[in-house]
Amino acid sequence: MPSRLYEELKREYIKKTPKSAAHYEAARRVIPGGESRVLVTYAPYAITVTHGAGSKVFDLDGNAYVDYINNYMSLIHGHAFGPVSDALKSQLDKGTVYAAPTLPQYDLAKFLTDRVPALEQIKFCNSGTEAVMYAIRAARAYNRKKYVIRIDGGYNGASDFATVNMGIDMQRAPGGLPARVLEPGVPEELAQLVIPVAFNDSAQMETILKQYPGEVSVIVMEPMLGSAGFILPKPGYLRAARNLADRHGALLIFDEVVSYRLSEGGLAAQEGVEPDLMTLGKIIGGGLPVGAYGGREDIMKCFLPAHSAMLSASGTFSGNPMSMTAGAVALHHYPQPEIDRLNRLGDRLRQGLRQAAEKAGIPVVFTGGGSFIGYHFTRKKQVENATDSMRTLARHMSLYDCVHMAALVKGYYLMKKGRFILSTPMDEALADKTVADFAEIFALIKPLCDDLPEEED
Ligand SMILES: Cc1ncc(COP(=O)(O)O)c(C=O)c1O
Repeated sequence: MPSRLYEELKREYIKKTPKSAAHYEAARRVIPGGESRVLVTYAPYAITVTHGAGSKVFDLDGNAYVDYINNYMSLIHGHAFGPVSDALKSQLDKGTVYAAPTLPQYDLAKFLTDRVPALEQIKFCNSGTEAVMYAIRAARAYNRKKYVIRIDGGYNGASDFATVNMGIDMQRAPGGLPARVLEPGVPEELAQLVIPVAFNDSAQMETILKQYPGEVSVIVMEPMLGSAGFILPKPGYLRAARNLADRHGALLIFDEVVSYRLSEGGLAAQEGVEPDLMTLGKIIGGGLPVGAYGGREDIMKCFLPAHSAMLSASGTFSGNPMSMTAGAVALHHYPQPEIDRLNRLGDRLRQGLRQAAEKAGIPVVFTGGGSFIGYHFTRKKQVENATDSMRTLARHMSLYDCVHMAALVKGYYLMKKGRFILSTPMDEALADKTVADFAEIFALIKPLCDDLPEEED
């Protein structure tokens, strides 16, 4: 049952967005739900965005919103970043794509292989989904084993393998092994080859590796659980995964499609842990579609035409000069000092929000590192894995809905499930204003939080 507060906020939202409402009515006649990406929709209808500039997006009714989604973590410089726009205009005049090797592709490959210790070689594709799909295939072609270990509730894109346990088994006993959860349309036979383990639990990973001796081809994991709640690895967890993979003859893929922005070499490099293969996407396309996979040269050789395991990875638009140009320019403008500044800004915002929530008496755990912030309504002290975060989401959705609607009314564009993603046009003044506005939102929802149970499993 939606709360009275939610209904009031919704009325205010509807009042300020009549043109988006009308557009939604027209769009849903030709597109199911009015939009291709299910994630960007919400009730009663999403705003229709006409344009973006820096840290803001603008809707059809002329309202401005601070954009804390940044196209799901992909816009490191916010919207219409001048140097990327200029470079794209110049490339546009030379053509958008050719069936041939190009200089922009080489430039981005060289930049990333120089910058990221784990990348000896790299190939490009059009999305993170494809990147993970190719990386898993390369691992299995290389060691000719069949099982894949994946993190329960993690997100590695939408390929069949990656969707096993994208959702979680809500009934699971604490500490127990996750049961398989399948997306409709993924065959049971295929899902049997994917074994889910909980994030931040190396003992569970070891149990599985022992249960399938010498049969696990690859462990695929995000070093920081992104979509499942910006959950950082516990100290030593990534190293433990590396050691377990080595001890049991499995390869290790770090999916840094999201977490790469946290340091020049990615999150795992910060901890000095190297995977065998790594996947990238989001910010390395500078706002255009992209994916990349790379790592050890001896594995990447599987993609050579003369190799016995010859894998064909093509893709009509893979490595296209528009995405490569935008990506290279975006990354050149994101050197380590700028990464550090943005990470510090995220820490400031996280800390400010935490203090505001404490002051309002809201039971909430803030997660994430640097420019990623997640919030989770729970009386637990910590959120360590996808079960923790998805349970609070499922149980207390009405709270998340209220915050989301209140934020829209105040001019903040946020993911419904409780995240803030920063971009470089943001500064301390904006972070502090955000804290002040969210202090008001927390005060508004405080009465609803009184219903949260004292103990949650
Ligand atoms: C960690 C991770 N891997 C892969 C993907 C898939 O990327 P794409 O949406 O570009 O297919 C995502 C998307 O959010 C992601 O978060």
